[in-house]
Amino acid sequence: MILVPGGRGQLGHDLAALSPSVRPMSSAELDVTSVTAADLAGATAVINCAAYTAVDAAETDEARAFEVNAVGPGLLAEACASLGIPLIHVSTDYVFSGDGTQPYEPSDPVGPKSAYGRTKLEGERRVLEAGGWVVRTAWVYGVHGSNFVKTMAALESSRPSLSVVDDQLGSPTWSKHLAAGLLELASVLPDERLLHATNGGETTWFRFAQAIFEELGADPARVQPCTTADFPRPAPRPAYSVLSGAAWAAAGLRPLPHWRSALSDAFQAGVVAPRTGAAPLE
Ligand SMILES: NC(=O)c1ccc[n+]([C@@H]2O[C@H](COP(=O)([O-])OP(=O)(O)OC[C@H]3O[C@@H](n4cnc5c(N)ncnc54)[C@H](OP(=O)(O)O)[C@@H]3O)[C@@H](O)[C@H]2O)c1
Repeated sequence: MILVPGGRGQLGHDLAALSPSVRPMSSAELDVTSVTAADLAGATAVINCAAYTAVDAAETDEARAFEVNAVGPGLLAEACASLGIPLIHVSTDYVFSGDGTQPYEPSDPVGPKSAYGRTKLEGERRVLEAGGWVVRTAWVYGVHGSNFVKTMAALESSRPSLSVVDDQLGSPTWSKHLAAGLLELASVLPDERLLHATNGGETTWFRFAQAIFEELGADPARVQPCTTADFPRPAPRPAYSVLSGAAWAAAGLRPLPHWRSALSDAFQAGVVAPRTGAAPLE
């Protein structure tokens, strides 16, 4: 049985949907900030999806983010090590500065610019020190939970036009594809402990939003480009978030599909509920 803390989040939902051997745990069932080996009884592996993911809130709540993103993974890693079972921990592109210009390799220097990134980086360090696996991903969306795809779909039906930032590059990643990759990793357990997994290719939030409009059957020209400076946020966003999948492939793991075909597949799978009622604004 593969235990999944944070199992009610968007990634946890897809892990549970893909395999009957996955046991998703809500934070009420398993709080990673106080987890012990006894809480993992019966598990043959753990995939940790629990995280403090409110990137902006973490700027003024770093102590709590640290508990969930660093202390929790550390406790999980120690518990797994004591039981002799593998821990796969999910991390983020925010551990990098975002100043890069070519896809980040796992071994590239880190340099988080946000509280969220700092706390996730410390979680990585603790997991790796205890012999676990760390998989960094980025720009995740899925059928369950809030995400960019659903936000764009809601805005499409309520606004004639909108502006989306066109100066941040990354790889949108469907949580179902990532979940399948994590399950493959759990079965292979390669020697390499630090890996990157996103859907293939790269784009900007603006072009991603245009693709979402295409999938919705709406006119992509209703989405206009703007800059990060136009939309100041409490936490700085990495300008460049593309993660190289070379180490993933070298470890014998299947590369995740290209982000654009993944988006079409996600729409087929119902990432956005089909419209009922009024026609969209044009
Ligand atoms: N979403 C992205 O774009 C993105 C990008 C890069 C990396 N990641 C990483 O991918 C992983 C999964 O992300 P996601 O999008 O699935 O996140 P999510 O939907 O926000 O789910 C996170 C889950 O963590 C749980 N959680 C929070 N505090 C907890 C605690 N103390 N103990 C146990 N569970 C706790 C939450 O459960 P409750 O709601 O029940 O509290 C929630 O279900 C995270 O490690 C995240 O950092 C995500």
